[in-house]
Amino acid sequence: MNILVTGGAGYIGSHTVIELLKNGHIVTILDNFSNSSPAILDRIMFLTGVTPYLVRADVNDKETLDSIFSTDAFDAVMHFAGVKAVGESTINPLLYYSTNVCGSIALLQVMEKYKVNTFIFSSSATVYGSPSQFPIAETCATNPTNPYGRSKLSVEDLLGDIYAADNTWKIAILRYFNPVGAHESGLIGECPVGIPNNLMPYLSQVAAGIRPEVIVYGSDYPTPDGTGVRDYIHVSDLAIGHLAALEHISSSSHGVYLPMNLGTGRGYSVLEIIQAFEIASGRKIPYRYSNRRPGDIAQSYADVSRSNELLRWVARKDLMDMCSDVWRWQIRNPRGYAQ
Ligand code: WQD
Repeated sequence: MNILVTGGAGYIGSHTVIELLKNGHIVTILDNFSNSSPAILDRIMFLTGVTPYLVRADVNDKETLDSIFSTDAFDAVMHFAGVKAVGESTINPLLYYSTNVCGSIALLQVMEKYKVNTFIFSSSATVYGSPSQFPIAETCATNPTNPYGRSKLSVEDLLGDIYAADNTWKIAILRYFNPVGAHESGLIGECPVGIPNNLMPYLSQVAAGIRPEVIVYGSDYPTPDGTGVRDYIHVSDLAIGHLAALEHISSSSHGVYLPMNLGTGRGYSVLEIIQAFEIASGRKIPYRYSNRRPGDIAQSYADVSRSNELLRWVARKDLMDMCSDVWRWQIRNPRGYAQ
């Protein structure tokens, strides 16, 4: 299939592009490189033998979108392009709505014009907010507690209205839990700009001696060891989940609208992650407790029965794979994609 991948140079997008190319798909990446590096294209080429087509543009750029859709007969679109930091979204909500919501609208309008109606949307477990039941199923209430989560849910709701108006659309909404890890080659991985917000890349930088210690946000949560519990999923499993979703919706004889969780169904605490990373890296990881981080929830882990059954997809990599692959990426790329 001929696939447009917006944000395809990003962390999850690039891992998905590799799986698409490995499976014989034709890929065009649309990316503005605001949170990614052009260097990744050489690495994708090295890993797959194929250099994807590249369009350097914002997803809001309707003129460029129209131009590429007018010349390229895409069969489907995977939409990763967006901004995704919870904390930043509370400081700059306009950026989050203009990029995540208006960008999606611009893309969907051009898709509609050119009658491309197979769409995979990169969503997030953040849409659930602070759930009261576990594991979290797709039928759980969605009640995001920050502008990032609300921007993602706004697009989900928009997609539901599009499908209600025209049920020939084939739409998969993939709610990621906590993506971590790196490609097993150590050639591509997560490359946070500045101080990492997320636990795993922060741990990796402490293990590498870049940062002195991990601050554990909260030790008084109602969890087994008092620290936050999350459902960490390897980015390569996530990427394969996208191909399974593409196969499922594109082969359907009718339109579909499918929100699905992509997780492992297993939660790990911050302390368990630290312990696993010490084993994977062979390094001691100093840490100290601090207050809870505003906006954090005690626990989050997925009910993955819908994606497991419908997509015949299961996350296969375990916590040690996740930590070992992050560590390999860290030590082979201490400056990320910077040459
Ligand atoms: C995990 C746990 C922290 C850093 C976020 C977004 C979510 C998704 C993934 C985009 C929590 C604790 C963290 C640290 C810590 N992104 N922690 N010290 O917040 O679950 O999810 O990233 O889709 O939308 O909300 O991930 O890795 O930041 O935190 O103790 O230095 O680690 O309190 O319990 P989070 P995280």
